[in-house]
Amino acid sequence: MKFLHIWVLCGNNSTKQTIRKVTIQAFIILLIFSVTTVMCYSLFSYSPLLKINKHKLPFHDLTEPESFPSTSVKKCDIFSGEWVPNPEAPYYTNTTCWAIHEHQNCMKYGRPDTEFMKWRWKPYECELPIFNPLQFLEIMRGKSMAFVGDSLSRNHMQSMICLLSRVEWPVDVSYMNDFSFKQWKYSSYNFTMANFWTPHLVRARKAYSNSVLFNVYLDEFDETWITQIKEFDYVIINGGQWFLGPMVFYENLKVVGCQYCDLENVTHLNLYYGYRKTFRTVFKAINSLENFKGATFLRTFSPSHFENGVWNKGGNCVRTEPFKSNETKLKGHDLELHKIQLEEFIIAQKEGIKKGLKFMLLDTTQAMLLRPDGHPNRYGYWSDQNMTLYNDCVHWCLPGPIDIWSDFLLEMLKMNGVNSTC
Ligand SMILES: *[C@@H]1O[C@H](CO)[C@@H](O)[C@H](O)[C@H]1NC(C)=O
Ligand SMILES: *[C@@H]1O[C@H](CO)[C@@H](O)[C@H](O)[C@H]1NC(C)=O
Ligand SMILES: *[C@@H]1O[C@H](CO)[C@@H](O)[C@H](O)[C@H]1NC(C)=O
Ligand SMILES: *[C@@H]1O[C@H](CO)[C@@H](O)[C@H](O)[C@H]1NC(C)=O
Ligand SMILES: *[C@@H]1O[C@H](CO)[C@@H](O)[C@H](O)[C@H]1NC(C)=O
Repeated sequence: MKFLHIWVLCGNNSTKQTIRKVTIQAFIILLIFSVTTVMCYSLFSYSPLLKINKHKLPFHDLTEPESFPSTSVKKCDIFSGEWVPNPEAPYYTNTTCWAIHEHQNCMKYGRPDTEFMKWRWKPYECELPIFNPLQFLEIMRGKSMAFVGDSLSRNHMQSMICLLSRVEWPVDVSYMNDFSFKQWKYSSYNFTMANFWTPHLVRARKAYSNSVLFNVYLDEFDETWITQIKEFDYVIINGGQWFLGPMVFYENLKVVGCQYCDLENVTHLNLYYGYRKTFRTVFKAINSLENFKGATFLRTFSPSHFENGVWNKGGNCVRTEPFKSNETKLKGHDLELHKIQLEEFIIAQKEGIKKGLKFMLLDTTQAMLLRPDGHPNRYGYWSDQNMTLYNDCVHWCLPGPIDIWSDFLLEMLKMNGVNSTC
């Protein structure tokens, strides 16, 4: 793990660049986790054996839906609100759901407190109903949903599998034996769910093997997912943390600049440049897909919560309660990345209307900003004297706060009418 102490170039706006150690918050953690997931997923792929664990939680709140009323009036902004206590949560545990990724199975690794699971999101002007798996599956009958992005996409999909497990377990119908490209089918509902691993969203390659430096081709589609999503009815896109790391930006196959790279004569371009171009390319790709009729959700940037130091200097996230909205504010790169997403989303949405494509904003940033208590911190693995392991204040424990991403998603599906995806 010594490679984590990387020295990187950090440009100042002049041509002179100085070398200094920088914090690439979160980014390296994602790298670590993408390596170790290989091991964990080999466990995961034995999951059919674990299905003996079909014990269901009390089900009294689930009724077969006849219609799908949305309790919120159209005007309500479901993304502005506060976390309020919900003693009924969680709706699954690590013993009822096998889909929880090792590194997010916080209870298994000894997290002592449980209060962090017992909150729901209360929009100021309406109620956000708790996810109803029966309703969701009914709406998804005969449809398909793709989760596209980094490990937080997978974190979301696994949360959803667990939430749906009170009704049905999916079967693995993956077309390749790769944890980054899983496909799950809910047979009784003919509903397919898939995840596509693409942390930079556009085409990107490691600059050399074992490098933390990536070549990112800002104007090129990532064919591994863009060619796959056209049959999907719903596509949920996210991305962010990986843009905090070292990158060389390419356009037209030429180097246009870089962030934290130690290449001579390459101008510094910050992550905001790359981030904006990336979303522009991604939305352009979707809007130009032939035969794609699906709705695209942008799930906005998920802030990390390192305190008491940066990620590789003892930074941690030890809080056990959410913030109130008056206790913190979106700032720094969280604010800037979110702003860029919104701006590019609006451009894409306008373009989409012309093509008959729907774009929807799953604007979870503010809600997640208020959840410094929801990360694994040091409860994502056993401690190991032989290795320095960093605290994870990026991903989210399951069960945990990202379970409400599905509350939002279902509510948006209902608000937008069940039968009209376009
Ligand atoms: C679930 O969490 C408990 C602690 O609450 C732990 O003892 C157990 O090993 C975990 N089980 C699984 C299957 O992760
Ligand atoms: C299942 O859904 C797919 C679309 O996702 C559709 O093409 C297919 O005909 C459906 N199958 C059944 C048996 O309804
Ligand atoms: C960088 O630019 C200088 C001055 O133009 C030149 O002498 C040098 O060879 C260049 N280095 C590389 C690696 O291109
Ligand atoms: C935030 O608002 C709550 C009421 O919702 C109040 O009790 C608390 O004092 C406020 N905190 C700050 C830091 O303003
Ligand atoms: C640490 O390394 C030593 C020697 O390589 C090994 O014997 C020991 O089992 C390791 N400890 C752990 C906890 O992995």
